[in-house]
Amino acid sequence: MRSATTTTASRIISVGGVRGDLVVPNDDLVGSIDSSDEWIRRRTGIVTRRHARKEVLVEDLAEQAGRSAIEAAGIDPEQVDVVIVASISWMQTTPAMAPLVAHRLGTGPGTAAFDANAACAGYCYGIGQADAMIRSGLARHVLVIGAEKISDFIEPTDRTMSFIMGDGSGAALVGPSDTPGIGPTVWGSDGRLNGAIGLTHSWLDFKYAADDERVPWPTARQDGPSVYRWTQTALPELALKAIADAGLTPKDIEVFVPHQANLRIVEGLHDRLGLADDVIVARDIVDTGNTSSASVPLATERLLREGLAQPGQIALQFGFGAGLAYAAQVVRLPEHVGVAGPGAPVPVAEPVAV
Ligand SMILES: CC(C)(COP(=O)(O)OP(=O)(O)OC[C@H]1O[C@@H](n2cnc3c(N)ncnc32)[C@H](O)[C@@H]1OP(=O)(O)O)[C@@H](O)C(=O)NCCC(=O)NCCS
Repeated sequence: MRSATTTTASRIISVGGVRGDLVVPNDDLVGSIDSSDEWIRRRTGIVTRRHARKEVLVEDLAEQAGRSAIEAAGIDPEQVDVVIVASISWMQTTPAMAPLVAHRLGTGPGTAAFDANAACAGYCYGIGQADAMIRSGLARHVLVIGAEKISDFIEPTDRTMSFIMGDGSGAALVGPSDTPGIGPTVWGSDGRLNGAIGLTHSWLDFKYAADDERVPWPTARQDGPSVYRWTQTALPELALKAIADAGLTPKDIEVFVPHQANLRIVEGLHDRLGLADDVIVARDIVDTGNTSSASVPLATERLLREGLAQPGQIALQFGFGAGLAYAAQVVRLPEHVGVAGPGAPVPVAEPVAV
């Protein structure tokens, strides 16, 4: 027997993305959580977030982002060997979202397609898997999509995260390369903090509760202070390891694209990593909100589309969130950016001091 033909390296060829079409300012949300525009800006940096209309489903967002990445890469959909969809918003345990999205994109019946739920780390988990699949010969082109419609399971009276989350989808087309375009992935999880972010309760509680103990539809909530502490204490050394594993130092990083959890977390990580003063930092959170698995590719496509970062620059990307799960890797920014579809972002809001 023979084993698969291996390839020395992979790279992200293109990214694409779409944001929810509704621009939701803080003032639209504060009434039901006894908060204020000023408090939300100061504690999270968020000025507006994007929500998708009721009729727009998470698979629609995933399809649109995936198509823009494929078209930007200039390959035929049938050349896509694997579609990985990272999401926490697919409300059907089975079948997965990825085969449906692959079918809609016209990748053909030979395409492997599966969902990966690593919450806000899902896209970076997917990039790590795509890199390994391509180098091992398991696939030649892998489409990694992060897609979320979190507004479907936000409780408007929840003070812990209802005001943070947004809807959108970002995608990357990953393929073989002569030179390294994706560094080693540092990934992992800490289940001791499993209860820190997630749904209020299981779907089984919803189903089996006695009539007189009816529980509501599960919605998202978090223990914000413990998540914040974790991001500032445990995560910096993991990001530094991803940089070292790529044979680089923090000063070599030209662009920093952390998960857009909130601006205080982004700025705090930036300070703790010792990155160069002129490093370009993604701040898509300010007017997109936290789109979980979609946040890293959306922030990337925006930096490139707006010319704030350039193709080929060395970027550190870092996803982290519920689980708690994390994945970081150094990548070279892709050459191609998809044309934004309907629901494209509004002009950049001025970052606010946090
Ligand atoms: C969510 C987060 C913004 C809350 O801020 P915080 O300062 O930690 O809030 P705390 O829960 O400690 O509460 C501090 C005060 O703010 C108040 N508060 C809490 N939520 C509030 C809200 N939504 N609006 C207004 N006030 C709020 C509290 O009542 C408390 O008031 P008090 O001092 O008078 O008692 C913050 O914990 C955070 O950024 N966490 C990171 C988690 C994250 O972003 N996760 C995303 C998924 S990866």
